[in-house]
Amino acid sequence: MAVTIKSAREIEYMREAGRLLAEVHEELGAFIRPGISTLDIDMLGEKLIRSRGCVPNFLNYQGYPASICVSVNDEVVHGIPSSERILKEGDIVSLDAGLIYKGYHSDAARTHAVGRISEEAKKLIEVTRRSFFEGIKAAREGNHLYDISAAIDDYVSGLGYGIVRDLVGHGIGTHLHEDPQIPNFRQKRKGVRLQAGMTLAVEPMINAGGWQVDFLDDGWTVVTRDHSLSAHYENTILITEGEPEILTIT
Ligand code: MF3
Ligand code: CO
Repeated sequence: MAVTIKSAREIEYMREAGRLLAEVHEELGAFIRPGISTLDIDMLGEKLIRSRGCVPNFLNYQGYPASICVSVNDEVVHGIPSSERILKEGDIVSLDAGLIYKGYHSDAARTHAVGRISEEAKKLIEVTRRSFFEGIKAAREGNHLYDISAAIDDYVSGLGYGIVRDLVGHGIGTHLHEDPQIPNFRQKRKGVRLQAGMTLAVEPMINAGGWQVDFLDDGWTVVTRDHSLSAHYENTILITEGEPEILTIT
């Protein structure tokens, strides 16, 4: 499938899908505290999405059983919410959420502290967030897709963290996952030429230890092989002739 260029009308829908998702993330972030279950987060997230007249795009996606992916500590992504998984002081929790507004998808992830966390965990969250912003400095018309990958890699590898390689970012629009795939590590090729009107989900997943991950038997949860902490930061962005527009930040 070719990379799609969105029309002015489609971009307006993508902006609104992004803006509403940013609101959902704000509210979910404020809800995080010790003692809640990961299912509590999912239930609130689904309510926040539906109350905005939108549909959670992860729910039933390839059989995924919830609206929000909730991944704790060494869980990288795609943690399945459960009433039995209770957050405790010192945990870190990654929330990945997405919604559909008038047929257009948005997708974003944040990692939050649960109460007071270690300096090591704070630094991992900050490096992961920062790696997204380093990456998208290269996200502008005329550059190539893998300039983004290289920019993320240069920043993160220099600090000694592990970049997850088995999962990547993606194009997004009328589908959650569109072409192209967007690795978070340096590629040998250049990738497609970036053009104004492309909408992309850029989503570095960074481990405090090695880059290797395992896929659990529940069919979804991805964990770090060495059980080091992992963080995730994702936004849906619009490529323009200048600075990229970040659609999922208010
Ligand atoms: N945000 C994830 C991604 O970018 C989607 C979660 S997979 C799902 O691919 F199955 F939970 F939807
Ligand atoms: Co995504």
